[in-house]
Amino acid sequence: MSGQAAAVIEVRDVSLGYGDRVIQRNLTFDVRRGEVFGILGGSGSGKSSLLKAMIGLFRPLSGRILFEGEDIVTAQGEDRLRLLRRFGVMYQSGALFGSMTLLENARLPLDEFSDLSAAEKDLVALAKLNQVGLLAAARRMPAELSGGMQKRAGIARAMALDPGILFLDEPSAGLDPSSSAGLDETIRELSRHLGITFVLVTHELQSIYAIADRCIMLDGAAGTTIAEGRPADLRDHSDNPTVRQFFLRQAAPAPGTGNAAR
Ligand SMILES: Nc1ncnc2c1ncn2[C@@H]1O[C@H](COP(=O)(O)OP(=O)(O)OP(=O)(O)O)[C@@H](O)[C@H]1O
Ligand SMILES: [Mg+2]
Repeated sequence: MSGQAAAVIEVRDVSLGYGDRVIQRNLTFDVRRGEVFGILGGSGSGKSSLLKAMIGLFRPLSGRILFEGEDIVTAQGEDRLRLLRRFGVMYQSGALFGSMTLLENARLPLDEFSDLSAAEKDLVALAKLNQVGLLAAARRMPAELSGGMQKRAGIARAMALDPGILFLDEPSAGLDPSSSAGLDETIRELSRHLGITFVLVTHELQSIYAIADRCIMLDGAAGTTIAEGRPADLRDHSDNPTVRQFFLRQAAPAPGTGNAAR
């Protein structure tokens, strides 16, 4: 995709924290329309907090976050709801409901936010499952499926309301390398064919190379971003030792993911 696309999200001088504790400060970056944007960083550096701030569910200590020019931090009432409905989200802990079929899971946002008929909701949810390659599994229960299939169903659910932008927090955590690669391929295809913008948090170096157009890296100790750019450029040209170490660790196990080295 073109590196020159317009910014869809503008993060400006944002600080994040809990109580008296500041986790990140001076975060300033753009997410461009249609790109896959990666948020990297060690465990506890504030990746999930940043993602929640970007979807308007966690208030920054200071700074502005604009979505298509509208401030999502200060938006209220109907304006805020209208903005939030433009986002699809898969949380780090976001599991499927085990007592529901994939179809029922994928239909949930429609049950909550749309006034379509039951048959129409099923059609939309089936279309989303089809887009992630799970049409044949629509009537199956989550426990009958592989971890990778469950993650893809989570993405289908996040797409139910046709969001222009999808936020995924550690989508490949806990998956084996081949399922993780399959999930990357799904994300890449959705990006290419549907033009969806992705913001994804990940620890997985292979995923970053495979799918991220650009990324930022948060550093917990520095309390701010220590790199921004195309993954290969960061790998080859960053002067920052933490950045270099991250990109050179190749097959080392990622902290907090429990994934085995290859
Ligand atoms: N609700 C909360 N209240 C207080 N502190 C919190 C809360 N949520 C997160 N934190 C702290 O903020 C810091 C950043 O947390 P966050 O979950 O954003 O990190 P992360 O980069 O997503 O980590 P991981 O890679 O382990 O998911 C951590 O030190 C965490 O303990
Ligand atoms: Mg996290």
